[in-house]
This record gives sequence, C-alpha cells and structure tokens, in this order.
Amino acid sequence: MPDQYAVIGNPIGHTKSPLIHGMFAESCGQDIHYAAIEGQLGKFAQQVDSFRSSGGRGLNITAPFKLDAFAYATHRSEAATLAGAVNCLKFEGSDILAENFDGVGLSRDITHNLGVSMQGRRVLVLGAGGAARGALLPILRQQPSRLLIVNRDVAKAEALVQAVGHLGQVEAAGYDVLSGLHFDVVINATSASLTGGLPPVPASVFAQADLAYELAYGKGLTPFLQLASQAGVRRLADGVGMLAEQAAEAFLWWRGIRPDTRAVIDKLTVPLT
Ligand code: ATR
Repeated sequence: MPDQYAVIGNPIGHTKSPLIHGMFAESCGQDIHYAAIEGQLGKFAQQVDSFRSSGGRGLNITAPFKLDAFAYATHRSEAATLAGAVNCLKFEGSDILAENFDGVGLSRDITHNLGVSMQGRRVLVLGAGGAARGALLPILRQQPSRLLIVNRDVAKAEALVQAVGHLGQVEAAGYDVLSGLHFDVVINATSASLTGGLPPVPASVFAQADLAYELAYGKGLTPFLQLASQAGVRRLADGVGMLAEQAAEAFLWWRGIRPDTRAVIDKLTVPLT
C-alpha cells in the first residue's frame, strides 16, 4: 500500500494540494496516496488520530485548523512556534512533528523563482495577522536593510515586532508613516484582497520598488497589484509560487526529495489581468 498523506480543512472542496502533491509524486517517482479530508469543527484530534491509526504519515493543515494542529503536536519547529500556527504535520511513531512552511515558501518564491533579492534591501509588509506573522522569520533570514510592518491596528504590528525582534531589525507602524518612504519589495499580507479591498497604502511607496507581492492566490489583478502596476512596478506576483513552494517544502520534509515547482506553478497560475 502506498504511504498515506492528506490535507485537512473546512471547507476543503477547492484545495489544490492533492493535485500539487500528485504532480510532485509523479515527477519524483514516489509512490504515495494523497487525499483531501473535510475536517469537522471540534473534532480535529479525533479525525487525525484515526488518520494516523490507519497508516497516515503526514498532513497539510488549512483553515480553520492551524491552531488545532499547533495544540495537537508534540514537537514544534521554530517557524511553527513563531507563527503560532502549523500548516504541516509529520507522524513518526508516537511523535507528532509540526512545521509551518508558508513563510519559507514565500521567501523562496521571491528570491528563487522571481529572482528578487531581499538581502540589504527595504522590505515593507502590509498587515499583521496570521499570514504576516508566518512570513517574518524567513524574510528576516534574508537580512533586509529595513523591514517595516504596517497595520491599521498598530498594536498588532507592535506585538509581531515583540515576537520576532530578537531575530533581526524590524519596525512596526501605522499606514500614516508611509508617505515619503520607499521600498524595494512590498508584500500585501492583509486579507483585504479577499473582499476586493485595498489597504490604505500610498502609491508613492512603489516609486523605487522591484516587486509587489500579493499573498492571496488566484484573484487576478487585485486592487493592490493594480496600484503597484500603475505606479510602474515591473514585477507583480500573487501567492501561486508561495503555494507551490510551501508544498515542495512539505514534500521534502516527508519524502527526503525536493520536487521542482515549475510545472505546478505553470498549471495553477491565474493571469494577473
Ligand atoms: P490572515 O490570517 O489572513 O492574516 P487575519 O489574522 O484575520 O487574517 O488578519 C487580517 C489582516 O488583514 C490584519 O492585519 C488586518 O488589519 P487590522 O488588524 O488592522 O484589522 C488586515 N486587513 C484586512 N482588511 C484590510 C483592509 N481593507 N485594509 C488594511 N488592512 C486590512
């Protein structure tokens, strides 16, 4: 029987994970079975117990179970601990190992796939929710000259700085500080695009930018990307590469082999129009 893996979430109907891991397994010659599990609220531990006892080797975790997975784990990586959320589990005997690959997926997409360096550059992150929190450690590891987190609720941005400030130079502020400031990489980690909204960011922040990155995936040219495009930013990206890269990190962790992500990114790309 092939080794069993799955993604658990609710809703789960639109998940791309079985397609992605199926493509990875085929290209790497790995005999695995990857399913989608509709999780039931309040029954995460029960459902995962039963997946493990039927031979499950690992799980991807999506909303709303990332905190349940954090609590369920027996061992948590630094990335999972800092993010306060888990997007990947690996089962080894009675050990339940927890990871969060979202941030490293983002960082690898920017530096490797898009070819934009963050080392010694000015990076602006919009938003201070779960998505921003998960992204900070891998960005700091790139050693930007400046990392600024802005949020409408400034206290939330300050709390993030408290959590990661010992790992590198990072500042928190409200959107009002942005006029007159310039950045090389601007990342939209707010949830505004999910509802067609735009964070209150002035177009001037893009004047010297190489890259505007929208964490949301598959929304086309969001108001954020449109603003960046109008301001003359040459490289626009959404989260498709991050999605593929975090999956590749999970596959590597589970199977010991890193799949190439290009075919997955090509297949899942939604044009930015
Ligand atoms: P996620 O897990 O996707 O990060 P979240 O934890 O609910 O979701 O956080 C949502 C983030 O998007 C927050 O930083 C929120 O800003 P506030 O904390 O100030 O509310 C931000 N956000 C949502 N809609 C926004 C908008 N229209 N403009 C600016 N920021 C927005």
